[in-house]
Amino acid sequence: MTSLDYSLQQEVAVIAFASPPVNSLGHGLRSALVEALERAKRDDKVAAVVLIGANATFCAGADIKEFGTSAMSRGPGLPTLNATIESLGKPVVAAIEGVALGGGLELAMSCHHRVAQSGARLGLPEVKLGLLPGAGGTQRLPRLIGIENALNIMLSGEPLPAKMFQGSPLLDAVVDHDLLDTAIAVAKQSAAAHQAGSRLPRARDLKIRELDLQALCQFARNTVKTAFKPYPAPAAIVDAVEYGAQHGFAAGLEEENRLFRGLLVDPVSASLRHIFFADRAAARIKDLSPDIKPSAFEKVAIIGAGTMGTGIAINFLTAGIETRLLEVNQEALDRGVERIQKYFEGRVKKGKLTADKAQGMAKNLVPVLDYAQISDVDLVIEAVFEDMAIKKSVFSQLDSVMREGAILATNTSTLDIDEIAATTKRAEDVIGLHFFSPANVMKLLEVVRGKKTSLQVLATAMALAKKIRKTAVVSGVCDGFIGNRMINQYSAQALAMLEEGASPQQIDAAIEKFGFAMGPFRMSDLAGNDIGWHIRKRQLAEGKLTRTSLIADRLCELGRFGQKTGAGWYDYRLGDRHAHVSEVVEKLIAEQRTASGVSTRSLDDAEIVDRLVFSLVNEGAKILQEGIAQRASDIDLVYLTGYGFPIWRGGPMHYAESRSLYEVARRMREFATLPSADEAFWQPADLLQQCIAAGHGFDGGAA
Ligand code: 3HC
Ligand code: NAI
Repeated sequence: MTSLDYSLQQEVAVIAFASPPVNSLGHGLRSALVEALERAKRDDKVAAVVLIGANATFCAGADIKEFGTSAMSRGPGLPTLNATIESLGKPVVAAIEGVALGGGLELAMSCHHRVAQSGARLGLPEVKLGLLPGAGGTQRLPRLIGIENALNIMLSGEPLPAKMFQGSPLLDAVVDHDLLDTAIAVAKQSAAAHQAGSRLPRARDLKIRELDLQALCQFARNTVKTAFKPYPAPAAIVDAVEYGAQHGFAAGLEEENRLFRGLLVDPVSASLRHIFFADRAAARIKDLSPDIKPSAFEKVAIIGAGTMGTGIAINFLTAGIETRLLEVNQEALDRGVERIQKYFEGRVKKGKLTADKAQGMAKNLVPVLDYAQISDVDLVIEAVFEDMAIKKSVFSQLDSVMREGAILATNTSTLDIDEIAATTKRAEDVIGLHFFSPANVMKLLEVVRGKKTSLQVLATAMALAKKIRKTAVVSGVCDGFIGNRMINQYSAQALAMLEEGASPQQIDAAIEKFGFAMGPFRMSDLAGNDIGWHIRKRQLAEGKLTRTSLIADRLCELGRFGQKTGAGWYDYRLGDRHAHVSEVVEKLIAEQRTASGVSTRSLDDAEIVDRLVFSLVNEGAKILQEGIAQRASDIDLVYLTGYGFPIWRGGPMHYAESRSLYEVARRMREFATLPSADEAFWQPADLLQQCIAAGHGFDGGAA
């Protein structure tokens, strides 16, 4: 709800506005501000104006929810609001607390003076939404702090502390206390000077002093074109700045507006805005009331000091949390501890951590061999071998020693969490915390909710994820949860295309060109081809798979597990991770094709990409339909943060919507008619068909 309070403090009109939680400049607030400013202009008793956020923050910019809707173009727009301030004829002072971001900082820069609280953060983060500052930011900021500084701020999008601008024309004053009083004092002083004949200071009137304008802009343009290849906004920022510096403020504003409108309808911005909201939506659990507060946690224990256990431990140690590490024997424990110590030493060597800080973090590590030494912790995460019998034995020991109320988590990537929970007398305290490898690097954490997991445990797991800076996505229990269940279909499709005539390098190159960080064969070589082999064998035995890939199985029978064995789908040379095309694999593929009597054909890149991506989409739709994922945007987040899906495409489900769900289903039906196609595989999921019939997207929005 927008609110605005207009009060007089002697001859100064104080306009305190609020549009919680972050005072974004939606239509309601823009209208109210223009109205209040015009009132102050008309009132002869008013000599100056102070603009301040009523709720301890100034403004986080334009209302992103309005983008692409009719509300965005409902007058007054932000440029009109800013022009109203500039031409008010009375000094306007922005009093900045909390944040002044995007359109919020642009609003402040249109004011004649700016005063900030020392803890405030200022920035133009539009680039992170695939946009440029579209309300004068590309024109006013360079005039206030110089082109190079302004470009750095706009291209990084990072908010900076107000203190950094102390002494620059961007801020008249930075104060620790009494923000409003200082702003009123500045307003009075300015009004007096104005009445005595001084011109009101305006950013637009400042001269740009940059001798090497063209060279600087060309350098910036070249840099961003390499660093942000698929993203159009960074180059547009440079263009807008250069144009305004060459042709003057008014022409610069027009050019900025033209570029902003172009970016707004670009699919890259649509994807980045989708991710902004997806990121925040993922933290919301539909049946979790805000009254359920997370329990406190101070101490954790990790069982198993292998690849995952040590990576998981590093997360907690980095967050300053006491972490006990438990292993089966001293030797395994020592190996794990050494790996963790090496990690912290490496951070110091690379200059990422001071020796003191690293020591402080590592000091919280407590290696143990006995369950009795972990019984008092708040959370225990099991990361032992992926074997149901071993996991069950660990959980029954945990059940007997852990304190009442402790959370018992498993890092299993495939096993049934409900079955593991059933070995305890406290299934409500059992949850899956599925980290991704390397666990200290990957942002994604699938929080797997068992049938009996309590809401309290779920709330605590989400809070814990935030504390260790992970992107948490809630998943229900199923084989592979959200991410791996989908990747299994993607891998199956990659292997099917191999049999039909494509080579590993062709498939990898096509999907990498689409934007994936790594193609399926290079990825499998990195993770270990034996992992997929074991999964296929288990799924065949459980009847979840009707046919296996003979080529992939044969590859594993030859011991070609990937990088770790120096050979997989590709050949690897010692000390070199580069993938070299393998004659052995080419021969193996040819032999298997002959043996299975498949007539091969050539596949083009468009077919390869669509088959890979739409296999993810169809499984994603089933996952959504079954309630395993709460929303399609959660699935996108899983793929963006855990599987290297190209960020600028917004995730598989968003990408499918951007291609039109109708077109996606039509392609699936086309694939079902290909020679040697698995028709059932390409049957569009019920939910996909329902969305098409209803004319909306997976989460109910535009298709
Ligand atoms: N518009 C609409 N909603 C916004 C918003 C915005 N600019 N900024 C934040 N919100 C919403 C969030 O979606 C979230 O909503 P929810 O509670 O329903 O999920 C709520 O405000 C709180 O946001 P956070 O969860 O992110 O809260 P934090 O306290 O962690 O962070 C923040 C606050 C630093 C302001 C962060 O929200 C942020 O960085 N916001 C985006 C700022 C931004 O990109 N501004 C530029 C907008 S584009 C623009 O101004 C164009 C102009 O140049 C023309
Ligand atoms: P790993 O083989 O590297 O480590 C397992 C460790 O557990 C070994 O050090 C072993 O000594 C120890 N261990 C075995 N039984 C134990 C017991 N009863 N008590 C204490 N310690 C015991 O295995 P990794 O890769 O770390 O995997 C662990 C778990 O994480 C598995 O469930 C796996 O599915 C899961 N996972 C693995 C990922 C990966 O990429 N490696 C990714 C996500 C999850």
